[in-house]
Amino acid sequence: MAHQSGITGIGVTDHVYIEFDLVDGVDGAEAVAKLSEAINVPTTAGANIVAGVRPELWARVAEAADVPDNVHGFNEAIVGRDGYTMPATQHDVWLWGASSSRSAAFDLSRSIIEQLREVLAVADETVGWVYQHNRDLTGFEDGTENPGALEAPSVVAIPAGQPGAGASILLYQLWKHKTVDWESLGTKAQENIIGRTREDSTELDDDVMPDDSHVSRNVIEVDGEELEIFRRNTAYGDHNDHGTVFVGFSFDQWRMEEMLRRMAGADDEQGPRDALTRFTDAISGSWYVCPSVEALAKLLPEED
Ligand code: HEM
Repeated sequence: MAHQSGITGIGVTDHVYIEFDLVDGVDGAEAVAKLSEAINVPTTAGANIVAGVRPELWARVAEAADVPDNVHGFNEAIVGRDGYTMPATQHDVWLWGASSSRSAAFDLSRSIIEQLREVLAVADETVGWVYQHNRDLTGFEDGTENPGALEAPSVVAIPAGQPGAGASILLYQLWKHKTVDWESLGTKAQENIIGRTREDSTELDDDVMPDDSHVSRNVIEVDGEELEIFRRNTAYGDHNDHGTVFVGFSFDQWRMEEMLRRMAGADDEQGPRDALTRFTDAISGSWYVCPSVEALAKLLPEED
């Protein structure tokens, strides 16, 4: 069972993310079948497409063997002990178009939206781009700790033999940056907040790493092993209103949700809130199952 290849298809600069809701009265199974048909694009389209389906909707329309265990939508906000809130803005379907041509990303996503118009209504659309090769809008390199190309597939996809094999769980969140506040900090203060150096993304030594740094809050060890995820973040926005499109994949929802609880200061260990959340606010949040290609292909109409 193979994960959707666009998840690990790196090197693309122009991104578009669309969230859809089922049109009133439309059958979910029909909508997801039409989605499969629309994303079965030829290579000549010039863009990767990845699709995700709201976990509860996927569980309703897919064969039991293709449904991952223990996955839920972003149905409730995550609220830290001090009231810091990550909102729940779950939709029914997520689509990600990625290309090295803005035109191809635009044309293809527009064509898919048109094909789906009768069953899926656009709820939100965000254009993302790669800032300075591999940085986010904090100016720090983003993705340093991602697994390498040969390891990524086993981090993103549910292993063979398990329910939902080949599927990946996606966390999709928009984070708005308070850039003026961030830039008023010196480099050292910023590095203490991220937990890495700005110039070359070297992790701070243990003896100087603050407990509330972003790295400290996101390194989770279970039985001595660090829990990995695979992030494909991009930058979004304009002069006044901009930030990070967080696009994180794992075979395991729990670890990403635990990262959110730890960032918000809502974890059972009563840890500190992530210092980065003083300079960025989550303004959306949703979970999707990105089914395996085989599970989606089963929904294609039979050939004549
Ligand atoms: C405004 C939003 C965010 C920004 C700007 C951001 C930025 C960064 C940066 C600069 C790094 C250090 C370099 C790297 O390893 O990539 C990092 C690491 C990391 N981030 Fe984020 N991040 C954001 C949100 C999140 C969220 C929501 C999660 C989890 C749900 C997360 C999980 C991680 C993880 C797991 C690491 C690697 C930690 C390590 O092993 O060293 N990040 N992030």
